[in-house]
Amino acid sequence: MKKIPILDLYPQHKKLKRDIFKRWKKLCNSSSFVLGREVAEFEEEFAAYCGAKYAVGVSSGTSALHIALEALHCKNKTVMTSPFTFIATAETILHSGGKINFKDIEKDYYTINPDQIAPSVSSSDVIIPVHIYGQGADMDSIMKIASENNLKVIEDCAQAHGAEYKGKKAGTFGDAGCFSFYPAKNLGAYGEAGCVICSDRELAELMKRLRAHGSKDKYYHTEVGYNYRIDALQAAVLRVKLKYLDEWNLARAEHARIYNKLLAGTQVTTPKTREGCSHVFHQYSVVTPRRDALADYLNQNGIGTAVHYPIPLHLQPVFSFLGHKKGDFPISEELSSGCLSLPVYPEIKNSHIEYVCGKIIEFYEKEN
Ligand SMILES: Cc1ncc(COP(=O)(O)O)c(C=O)c1O
Repeated sequence: MKKIPILDLYPQHKKLKRDIFKRWKKLCNSSSFVLGREVAEFEEEFAAYCGAKYAVGVSSGTSALHIALEALHCKNKTVMTSPFTFIATAETILHSGGKINFKDIEKDYYTINPDQIAPSVSSSDVIIPVHIYGQGADMDSIMKIASENNLKVIEDCAQAHGAEYKGKKAGTFGDAGCFSFYPAKNLGAYGEAGCVICSDRELAELMKRLRAHGSKDKYYHTEVGYNYRIDALQAAVLRVKLKYLDEWNLARAEHARIYNKLLAGTQVTTPKTREGCSHVFHQYSVVTPRRDALADYLNQNGIGTAVHYPIPLHLQPVFSFLGHKKGDFPISEELSSGCLSLPVYPEIKNSHIEYVCGKIIEFYEKEN
């Protein structure tokens, strides 16, 4: 039986370890472990890659969202986001003193539906579009609503490094774009790391202070901040890997194309890519009937899968105080009960994708 994990990080490590270890050796010899030149250079390179003016390296995608919300003064504001996301998107709204206001997603693309935002918008609102699975939300419509109503927009790009929406990179539409460099991400560190990009110098400086206990100069504190600094060893890994990000994203998109072709005409619904945009397939997630039985069958045949995400956030116990019930966000709920992420990473072999698709087809044939 083949063993096809949902993700295999080892091929990248094997290819890059010499470069990474060389940089780590230099850093260890210099004893410069936190922030410093390596981080500043990564920030410059990542900002340039995205087409933003500034990047602020932090300790995780969660801390990126937290300091962006705080630096944009979201306390007591209503923050609209989708319930079909990882918990951190909503959790950080509460950390920063904001109020969560969930809006359902678009059926075809799984990102926040601008038609759901428009009717209830007020000028004290903030929007966090999540570029889920690696594809941008409808940024034209979102930015139109934001500019007509003077709203702040914070993009959650944790799954969308390098994704383009009509020729512009994710994270450069709103006031800030927040990235996670968790190891499994398209651009992943060797531990926890994250980053916020923006094009406003004062905002970048405030976020740099917030990540370091509210201080620019050592032991002089102007804000109540956090210890959200990124360490230099992670920045070194990210600098090596950034050079390959486009190549890896293209490989993921090619794998998705093959999956789409092989699964056409079957009972599973394959992901759609928005016209004129690039999808970087952080996840290749299909929507399936009898999802859990299919996942079991694939697992028995040596294929790793995952469900991103089995419970939409409005139905999570932690958010019960919001008073939501089943049926409030039907598209998110439908997706949560049907979605299944299949193995995808740049180095996966075509023969593995063929095997996975063959087993999916076999499962539905056996069921009929
Ligand atoms: C959509 C989304 N937002 C935020 C985060 C949080 O990032 P981190 O795990 O680096 O804190 C993640 C991580 O999985 C994510 O997928």
